[in-house]
Amino acid sequence: MNTSTQAAALAMFPLQAHALGFAAGEKQILDGVDLRLERGSFTAVLGPNGAGKSVLMRLLHGLLVPTTGRVQWGGLETRPAQQAMLFQRPVMLRRSVLGNVIYGLHVQGVAAAEARQRAQAALARVGLVHLADRPARVLSGGEQQRVALARAVALEPAILFLDEPTASLDPVATRAIEATLAELHAQGTTIVMVTHHLGQARRLAQDIVFVQEGRVTEHTPATEFFRQPRSTAASDFLQEELP
Ligand SMILES: Nc1ncnc2c1ncn2[C@@H]1O[C@H](COP(=O)(O)OP(=O)(O)OP(=O)(O)O)[C@@H](O)[C@H]1O
Ligand SMILES: [Mg+2]
Repeated sequence: MNTSTQAAALAMFPLQAHALGFAAGEKQILDGVDLRLERGSFTAVLGPNGAGKSVLMRLLHGLLVPTTGRVQWGGLETRPAQQAMLFQRPVMLRRSVLGNVIYGLHVQGVAAAEARQRAQAALARVGLVHLADRPARVLSGGEQQRVALARAVALEPAILFLDEPTASLDPVATRAIEATLAELHAQGTTIVMVTHHLGQARRLAQDIVFVQEGRVTEHTPATEFFRQPRSTAASDFLQEELP
C-alpha cells in the first residue's frame, strides 16, 4: 500500500451500522442493527441459518441498500473502494484462473504488467500457482473458493468480508485459507467473516457478532463469548453446535 492508500484506509474506520434494517416486501429480514467495527479487528459473525448474516454482510459491503438506517465509514457515508468480499458460492468468469484474478485488478484500473504480477503473487499465497492456466469454471468448489480469495487478496483491501469461505472445503484446504486469513489480519487487514465453524471462529476471531432472527443480539470479545455468551439464544446455539 502506498501512503495515500494507507491514509485512505485509516479514514475508513470505524465501520458503523446505525439502526440498520432490510425488508423485502412484508418480510423484515434485518432490523435495528447497531454495530461498530474497528480498524484491524477480526470479527466472526455467527448465528443460525436464515438469521440474516449474509444480508448483513451485503449491507455492510454495499451490495444491498438498507431500507432503514445507514452504514458509515469513518463517520461518512462515502463507501471506500478498498473493500473486497467473498461469497458463499464463488462466481467464476469464463477465463483462466489467472485471468479471473487479473480481471478484478483490471476493473480497479491497475496496469496490465502490475496486475499480472500481483495476480501471480496472490495465487501463490493461496497455493494455486499450479492451476493458473486452467479454465476457472472447471475447478472444484473448494479450488474456486481459493481463486476467489486470491482475487480478493490481490486487491489489497483494507477490509475483507467473507461469507462462509470454507463451507465447501476439506480440512486441509480450510486450514490453508485460515492461515492466509491470519496472515492478512497480522498485516493489518480488517476482517469480517460469517462462519458456521465454531472452531474456526475460536481460532481466528477476536470478536463475535451473534445474529438471531434479524437482530444482532451480541457483540463480544471471542474469549468471553465462548466462555459465557450473554444471551440465552447464543448460549443455546453453542450448546447445539459444540460436540
Ligand atoms: N433479497 C431478498 N429478498 C427476500 N428475502 C431474502 C432476501 N435475501 C435474503 N432473504 C431471506 O432473509 C433471510 C435471511 O437470509 P440470509 O441469507 O441473510 O441468512 P443467513 O443468516 O446468511 O443464513 P445461512 O446460514 O443459511 O447462510 C432468509 O429467510 C432469506 O430467505
Ligand atoms: Mg448466509
